Amino acid sequence: MPTFRAPRGTRDLLAGERRAFARLEELASGLAARYGYRELETPLFEQAAVFERGIGEVTDVVEKELFRLASRTEEGEVWALRPEATAGIVRAYIQHGMHTQPQPVKVSLTGPMFRYDRPQAGRYRQFWQWDVEAIGDPGPAVDAEIIELGVRFYRDAGLADVRVLLNSIGDPACRPAYVETLREHYRPAIGRLPGIERERLESNPLRLLDSKDPAMAALNASAPRIVDRLCDACAAHFAAVRGHLDALGIAYRLQPGLVRGLDYYTRTAFEYYREGAEGQQQALGGGGRYDGLVELLGGKPTPGIGFALGLDRVVLALEANGGAGPVEPEVTAVVVGADPLETVLRLVVATELRAAGIAARAELGQRKLGKQLESAARDRAHFAVIIGDEYADGQVQLRDLPAGTQKTVARADLQREISRAHAAHRHGGPA
Ligand code: HAM
Repeated sequence: MPTFRAPRGTRDLLAGERRAFARLEELASGLAARYGYRELETPLFEQAAVFERGIGEVTDVVEKELFRLASRTEEGEVWALRPEATAGIVRAYIQHGMHTQPQPVKVSLTGPMFRYDRPQAGRYRQFWQWDVEAIGDPGPAVDAEIIELGVRFYRDAGLADVRVLLNSIGDPACRPAYVETLREHYRPAIGRLPGIERERLESNPLRLLDSKDPAMAALNASAPRIVDRLCDACAAHFAAVRGHLDALGIAYRLQPGLVRGLDYYTRTAFEYYREGAEGQQQALGGGGRYDGLVELLGGKPTPGIGFALGLDRVVLALEANGGAGPVEPEVTAVVVGADPLETVLRLVVATELRAAGIAARAELGQRKLGKQLESAARDRAHFAVIIGDEYADGQVQLRDLPAGTQKTVARADLQREISRAHAAHRHGGPA
C-alpha cells in the first residue's frame, strides 16, 4: 500500500490546533457582530477571470499561485480556487445588486484560501483568513475604523505587540506619473536587476518596491516615495485617515515602500506585523482601499476598503508566546460502573445527561472500576457518576473528582445536582 500524506503546503488541524482556530473564529465572529459586519460565504472556487481581472494579471498571486481547476470547466469557463476573499465578495456584491442596500455594505467572511506558494513556516497552500470589507464608503473615517478593528482582534486574541504599517498608494490621478518616475529610477540599473524584476520594471514597477531580493535593497532605499507625490485629493484623504487613527489612539508606522501584492489597491494600504518582525515577509494581516475594483468587475463605480488577517499566523504567534490559552476540560461527567460488564445503564445515564445539556461520557469499555475512575480523572472531568448496587433503589454515587468527595444522589436529582455544582465550580464558588 502507498503511504498517503496530506499535500505539501497543507496540514491537518488536529484537536488542539482546531480548537485554537475555533477560538479565533469565535472572536472574529463576535467582533464582526459588535462592529456591524454581517457574515457571508462565497464559493471556494470562482471563474478564474474574477481573480485575474480583480487581483491583476501581473501579480504573484495570479501569475504563479492560482490553483486553476484544469479538468472541470463549463461553457468555456475556467475555475480557480480562491486565493483571497475580496474579489469573490465584490463579485457577490455586484451579482446580488447590493448597491441598492444602505451603503456601506459591511461583510465578514472566515474560511480557507488557496495559493500555490513555496511552503515554509507560516506560508501554506491552504490557509485561513478572517476577511472584512466595507463596500460603498469612500472614507476616510471607515479606513480608521477598519484598521482599529484589526488591532482589536489581535489584542483580544492575546497578541498585544502587533503594529500597524501604513501607506497611501495614490489613485489613477496621481499614480501613473509616480510609476513613470519609478521606472526612471530603476532604468539605469536595468542590467543589474534580477530577471523577474527586469520584466516587472515594464509590466508592474510598483512590485519592485517590495522585492525581497537582496540585490534590490539599495535601489529600493533610494527610490522616490509615492507619499511625496500624491495628488491633493489623495494627500488630504491620507492626512484625514491618520487624524482619525490618532484620535482613536492607534499607533502606526508610515512605510513608504508598502505597496501590497494585489493590484486593486488605491489610497490607504496597511499591514499588521509583530513588533520586531516588520522587515520580514510574515505579515499577520493586511488590507487597504480598492476604489476601482467594483467597476473593474462590472459594477458601478463604488469605493471599498477591507482587510484579511491570516489566522494560521496568529495561531503560530500565540503558540510561540507559550500557548493559545487555557484548555477547558471537554467533559463534565463520566459515567462509570461497579460491574465491569454492565454497559447498558452507563450509556443510558450518560445519554440522559447529554440530553439535559451536560457534557458527559460513558465508560463503555469493560475494565475494573478503578481503571474507569482513573480515566475520568485523566479527562479532568468534574464528576464521576458511579452506577452500583443502589441503582436498584433509584440512586447513584456522585463523586466530585477535584474535591475528592462523594455522596449518594437520587437518579431523579442527578442532572440538577451536577448542573448546580458545576456552575458553582466554574465561577469559583463552593461546590
Ligand atoms: P494578503 O496580504 O494577500 O491580502 O493576505 C492577507 C493575510 O493572509 C496575510 O497578511 C497573511 O497573514 C495571510 N496569508 C497570505 N498568504 C498566506 C499563505 N500562503 N499562508 C499563510 N497565510 C497567508 C489579501 O488577501 C486581501 N484580500 C486583503 C484585503 C481585504 N484587502 C482588502 N480587503
